[in-house]
Amino acid sequence: MGKYTLSVIKADVGGWVGHSDVHPDLLAKADERMAQAKSSGLIVDYYRSKVGDDIVFIMTHQKGPDSEEIHKFCWDSFVAITEVAKKLSQYGAGQDLLSDAFSGNVKGMGPGCAEFDIDVRPAEPIIVYAADKTEPGAWNMPLYKMFADPFNTIGLVIDKGMHDGFKFRVHDLRDHKEVVFSLPEEMYDMLVFIGAPSRFVIKNVMRKSNDEIVAATSTQKLHEIAGRYVGKDDPVMIVRCQSGLPAVGEALEPFAFPHTVAGWMRGSHHGPLMPVGTADDTPTRFDGPPRVVALGFQLTQDGILGTPRDMFADRSYDNARQTALDVADYLRRHGPFEPHRLGLDEMEYTTMPEVMEKLKDRFVKAED
Ligand code: 13P
Ligand code: 13P
Ligand code: MG
Ligand code: MG
Repeated sequence: MGKYTLSVIKADVGGWVGHSDVHPDLLAKADERMAQAKSSGLIVDYYRSKVGDDIVFIMTHQKGPDSEEIHKFCWDSFVAITEVAKKLSQYGAGQDLLSDAFSGNVKGMGPGCAEFDIDVRPAEPIIVYAADKTEPGAWNMPLYKMFADPFNTIGLVIDKGMHDGFKFRVHDLRDHKEVVFSLPEEMYDMLVFIGAPSRFVIKNVMRKSNDEIVAATSTQKLHEIAGRYVGKDDPVMIVRCQSGLPAVGEALEPFAFPHTVAGWMRGSHHGPLMPVGTADDTPTRFDGPPRVVALGFQLTQDGILGTPRDMFADRSYDNARQTALDVADYLRRHGPFEPHRLGLDEMEYTTMPEVMEKLKDRFVKAED
């Protein structure tokens, strides 16, 4: 079997118009760079995708995860696309490039990254998800449902390859620690943490038998890198499917419920995560509502990604979209009030600190 690394690396290097889409000239530059990477032999294959104002590189190669060569090529590509964005006065040109110089790995520099090695099976269905106007914790509930909830994934009950459950690696984004849970036995322990998705984020799901990674997410925190609000950490995720893993339909099913995530306007609001086909991945109403697209690939043993299927374009997601639009209407009517607006803890990283600073001398001791 062929062994390949699947790397998904994304960045927002300029929005068209505002934060709603990516200009075709930026996408053309991205395509040109990816074609170069393939013809030079750096990567085996690629598919260039996007969601909202984020450009997504999906690549197969044989350099392993965290490859400096691959990461540098992506970084240099985002820098080159930023130049196009500046010429076209795109909004927030270079938004996610938070450093002046590349330092070995895009992680910690702004772009999001999910990657792992795959020992490719004779048939290898893979779904790459990309979301705009939200954060990495948005994957917690769907991943939990796919790999741990029998009401979502009947395979956990009736497929003996899945019946023992899976391991989950959870990152604490605040204290920079990680912990591995084994499910179903530690389900309730894990839920204590992943139910707080702004801080605890599922990084990987692994097979119990050999710790092989079968799902990965991006977990960058832009505000921690930049020390200020620069945009949400619009995340990507890779999930391998079938034959002892969730079926493709089980991996898509969680998104039939457009759960509430943090993000939306100015990264400061809660809203429904609406599953959409790629033609509709343009967050427009109040810069939203947050969107997720899913591209399905049948990876070959030669590492070829082939043509993706646009999984959420299917009309079976129409009701989820309608629910999301109804929830968006309902939440918008709260205006600047919680729980539409994020709670104070999370506002700390957005627009709140400057207002607090301005008013701090006007706060005096209150009389009871
Ligand atoms: P402005 O301050 O440029 O209006 O930006 C707001 C915004 O879009 C936050 O990302
Ligand atoms: P992005 O994170 O997609 O750039 O959006 C930022 C924003 O402030 C939208 O209102
Ligand atoms: Mg943007
Ligand atoms: Mg974005």
